[in-house]
Amino acid sequence: MTDPTPPALSLSDLSKTFGGLRAVDGVMLQVEAGERRAIIGPNGAGKTTLFNLISGELPPTEGRITLFGRDVTRLPPHRRAARGLARTYQITNLFPRLTVLENCLLAVQALTSVKLHLHRALHRYPALFERARAVLEAVGLTGKEGETVRNLSHGEQRQLEIALALAGAPRLLLLDEPTAGLSPGESHLMTTLLKRLDPSITILVIEHDMDVAFELAKRVTVLHFGKVIADGLGEEVKANPLVQEIYLGAQ
Ligand SMILES: Nc1ncnc2c1ncn2[C@@H]1O[C@H](COP(=O)(O)OP(=O)(O)O)[C@@H](O)[C@H]1O
Ligand SMILES: [Mg+2]
Repeated sequence: MTDPTPPALSLSDLSKTFGGLRAVDGVMLQVEAGERRAIIGPNGAGKTTLFNLISGELPPTEGRITLFGRDVTRLPPHRRAARGLARTYQITNLFPRLTVLENCLLAVQALTSVKLHLHRALHRYPALFERARAVLEAVGLTGKEGETVRNLSHGEQRQLEIALALAGAPRLLLLDEPTAGLSPGESHLMTTLLKRLDPSITILVIEHDMDVAFELAKRVTVLHFGKVIADGLGEEVKANPLVQEIYLGAQ
C-alpha cells in the first residue's frame, strides 16, 4: 500500500566526502509536505553541500534522497526540478544587465516549451507574462518590472531570486541564506515575504541568523561538521546545550 501523503523530502544516511573531509555525514532528515523547516549551523557545517546533494548538483558518496515518495538519488538536477524542486543560491545568480521582467520571463520560459526571443516584442508571450507578473507580485516586486537588475538594491535582487525559483511553480523550495548580506530592514521584509508564500509550498531554508530561522520555521535542524546534532521545535533546540555552545562559542 502506498502512503497517500509521502514526505516532501526524505534523506536517508546521506553523506558527501571531499577528499578526507566528510562535509555531510550520515544525515537523516524528513520534511513533511507543506512544512517550513530551517537548517542552521556554523559556517562550513555542510548546509550548502546538503542542498547541492538534494538538488542533484553533487552526487552523494552514500545514502538516499526521496522527493514526494520517489527515489531521486540518481536523477540529474533537471529531472528533480521537473518533480517540483527549486532552489536559490547563497551567491546571486541573476542576469545583471537585463530587466527584472526579462530575468523572470527567462526563468518562466525555461520551464515551458515556449522559445523566448528577447529581441522580439515581449507582449507576444501573454502566458509567460502572466506567470512572470504573478511571481513578481508574490515577492513584492510589482512596479519594478522595467528596472535593470544591477540597479536594484541587494534586498530586491534577493527577492527576484525567490521569484525566479517560484517561476516553475515548485512544490519544494530550497532557500540558501535568503537574508545573507541584507540590512536589518531588508531582512525583515524578506522574512515577511517568505512567511506569506503559498502555504502549500514546502520550504527548506538555510539561515545563519537563529532568530530569523525560528521566525520562519517551527522546526529547526542543526548541522555541525556535517552531522545533524539537534532537530526539533524552536525552544527545544534553543535549550540544547550543544547548540548553545556552538552559537555562543561562535559569537
Ligand atoms: N566542492 C567542494 N570541494 C571541496 N570541499 C568543499 C566543496 N564544497 C564544500 N566544501 C567543504 O565542505 C565543507 C562544508 O561546506 P558548505 O557546505 O559550503 O558549508 P556551509 O554552507 O554550512 O557553510 C567546508 O569545509 C567546505 O570547505
Ligand atoms: Mg553555505
